[in-house]
Amino acid sequence: MTVPVSVGVVGGGRMGAGIAQVFAALGAAVTIAEAADQAAALGRVETGLARAHERGKLDEDPAAILARVTTVAGPTDLPADLELVVEAVPEIPSLKVEVLALIDKTVSASTVIASNTSSISIAELGAALSDPSRFIGMHFFNPVPASTLVEIVRAPATSAAVVEHVREWVSLLGKTEVLVNDSPGFATSRLGVCLGLEAIRMLEEGVADAESIDRAMELGYKHPMGPLRSTDLVGLDVRLAIAEHLASTLGDRFTPPRLLRDKVARGELGRKSGKGFHDWEKK
Ligand SMILES: NC(=O)c1ccc[n+]([C@@H]2O[C@H](COP(=O)([O-])OP(=O)(O)OC[C@H]3O[C@@H](n4cnc5c(N)ncnc54)[C@H](O)[C@@H]3O)[C@@H](O)[C@H]2O)c1
Repeated sequence: MTVPVSVGVVGGGRMGAGIAQVFAALGAAVTIAEAADQAAALGRVETGLARAHERGKLDEDPAAILARVTTVAGPTDLPADLELVVEAVPEIPSLKVEVLALIDKTVSASTVIASNTSSISIAELGAALSDPSRFIGMHFFNPVPASTLVEIVRAPATSAAVVEHVREWVSLLGKTEVLVNDSPGFATSRLGVCLGLEAIRMLEEGVADAESIDRAMELGYKHPMGPLRSTDLVGLDVRLAIAEHLASTLGDRFTPPRLLRDKVARGELGRKSGKGFHDWEKK
């Protein structure tokens, strides 16, 4: 197994910065293409490295790892000779298609192109590429450095060699894979959203309060986090977007409950806004 020498990440937000951090810590030179604020993207990597250093998780000085990370303004500024590019822009199909087409035009024909999408069909996104056989889903979890899972999503066109490369890289990152065939929501988002939506409906119907619903799953079923707390961490807006996509592809059972829509409209987005199904300002 060989460590990738050069990796590109498009979108330096919460997920992209985490993905850049773990590949840089592995020894790769990482280029982040970030359209809005390159300094903020680099700052997120720096903060993540400082946190990992405090926890004794790095083998190297954080400054030396950070020195391997550079930023550019957009996908067309990426170096051509990358081994892997991971797309991590927001979960908007048209935006991802546009960004993937630009990545495809910029990088060399041998570069593996991956998307960190949580729910959008890899086959559908792969249609934006001249050669969809080099395209795959690499679904990292939040926070990327601490999370041990990567869901690898294989579309019908994805080549076996690309699947093997990605499996090796996931293993080198010290993470564990699940390999799934392309379908809406894959395995993780489909099940996670399904449980979250039912918990929201139960809250709507007055079955129990949020704390009780979460505690029921945490203590009764040994889930590390209840479905409403988990929705708060992911972001209610993110969950709503995924639920809408799954409702349009898998049917009514994923139709978002009114309470979820109302909370998003009020700006109650979960931990990031201070309030969701739980109050995060008190914690
Ligand atoms: N947040 C999570 O818990 C989570 C978990 C797993 C997967 N994901 C997926 O990861 C992806 C990114 O999510 P996130 O939470 O990091 O979002 P985010 O909003 O934090 O980051 C997205 C970044 O992309 C940048 N961007 C937008 N358009 C761009 C363009 N054209 N070129 C370059 N950069 C551009 C934005 O400025 C922003 O910094 C989504 O597909 C999401 O579904 C998110």
